[in-house]
Amino acid sequence: MNDAFAQSAPLTIESAVRSHAVALSFSKNDKDEFVIEGPSQLVSKIEKHFEVVLLDELTFFSPTGKAGELFEIPVSATDTETERIYLVGLGDKSLTSIRLAGAAVGRKVRGKSIQVLSACTDGVDELHAFAVSLTLGSYLWNLKTDKELKYPNFLVATDDQETLDDAVVIAKAICKARDLVHTPSNIKNPAWLAEQATQLGKEFDFGVKILAGKELAQFGGLRAVGNSSPKPGPRFVELSYQPRNSKKNVNALEHVVLVGKGITFDTGGVSLKRPYDTMIAMKSDMAGAAAILATVSAIAQLQPKVRVTALMMLAENALSGTSQRPSDVITHFGGTTVEVINTDAEGRLVLADGLAYADANLDPDYLVDIATLTGAATLGLGRQYAAMYTRDNNLAKELVSIGEESGDRVWHMPLIDDYQDSLESDIADFNHTADKAKYSAGSVTAALFLEKFVGERRWVHLDIAGTARSEVDSGENPKGGTGFGVRLLTDWIMSL
Ligand code: BES
Ligand code: MN
Ligand code: ZN
Repeated sequence: MNDAFAQSAPLTIESAVRSHAVALSFSKNDKDEFVIEGPSQLVSKIEKHFEVVLLDELTFFSPTGKAGELFEIPVSATDTETERIYLVGLGDKSLTSIRLAGAAVGRKVRGKSIQVLSACTDGVDELHAFAVSLTLGSYLWNLKTDKELKYPNFLVATDDQETLDDAVVIAKAICKARDLVHTPSNIKNPAWLAEQATQLGKEFDFGVKILAGKELAQFGGLRAVGNSSPKPGPRFVELSYQPRNSKKNVNALEHVVLVGKGITFDTGGVSLKRPYDTMIAMKSDMAGAAAILATVSAIAQLQPKVRVTALMMLAENALSGTSQRPSDVITHFGGTTVEVINTDAEGRLVLADGLAYADANLDPDYLVDIATLTGAATLGLGRQYAAMYTRDNNLAKELVSIGEESGDRVWHMPLIDDYQDSLESDIADFNHTADKAKYSAGSVTAALFLEKFVGERRWVHLDIAGTARSEVDSGENPKGGTGFGVRLLTDWIMSL
């Protein structure tokens, strides 16, 4: 586990000289001239100590001004540990640009157990974004036996430890979600993930209830998918948070219910995924469940005055003698029957049970599901924006703006009623994939299917198939799990 989490450091030359590297930033001023950012007193002390003129050095590199552009200046002075000064571009100083800058510094020192002092620009939101992205850029995960995982230790030149503390909670939660996504599927079966929830519940003091075997009798979707891999079989995990010292009656607090798709591996089942190599990425198919577990862990530390319940729908979609068949009819939680067409559309089946359970038993004020649901979401939006569906336009605006600020960006997509007829079945209440009409809007029709299970609740569906995983190291994201959703959900819940 990464422990490269930001700590504040005083604006003294001592902070700099006991660090192996110093990362300062630069931007362009109103007159289109480059300037070195960060606390000017610290910058001038550093220049004096190392006998460098940073602006001259910067000019020498001919910067373009792009966010995240990074230059390296070797330095030496007596009685110092410092070997390098990095100058990183803040671009237009938007939060998005600042995150790219923080991530570039983090990436530069990834895998090194060195201390790095960094300074950003003014502003609490800027400091928060920068501190989170330092850690995200330096994220590392592997199971190599010959090399111990090493992480840098970040100091940030500020006296605002409180902002850094919040940033550390968020960064740690994102890293946890990433670790879970990176864990291969021979290790992370549904029982293993449920055990992870139990451990985090103990560590951060939130409730964890696990249902398995016969206790899942009413969860027809979860069983139909998860019994394809009967050892250990599917799990339903309910996480519950309520503030520790709330004077208000807990039931008077607003109640957020999160539902996460937790397919620990998606072969497609009998409707086997093709071409076969698209399967390799499918250990990430539990990223929604990982995101809500990490979110509740963060929330339990931040203690907002709301109630949060999170439902992890955990199952493996395997190909075996106990796999469901295309043409099976299953009965979901609450009694709705569904004709299964393509067993590779398993996510909506496990989510349907979770949504129906939440509507029937939890009386949510907000019902939000998050899932790596459709390849179509990636076709539409690529990997930088998640597809968001809701009929509540005000809530959508709110989430779009929190997404832009936090870095987990979402795009409001339409629930197109013209496509409803594609979900009609001749033999069950619904058909679970839109094969009756060729509307091609796979992410939309999946959302329309889920909506059948949310009753009258205020509901948001996040399709994170594109954003949950990155194929390359890029910006804040490592190749592999990104931890998408943790920041969006945590920041939104904190804003309620
Ligand atoms: N887990 C996949 C969706 C997915 C695809 C996530 C690519 C991440 C990257 C999901 O279970 C799935 O297989 N969806 C099908 C639905 C179809 C059969 C209606 C899809 O999108 O092709
Ligand atoms: Mn699938
Ligand atoms: Zn899937």
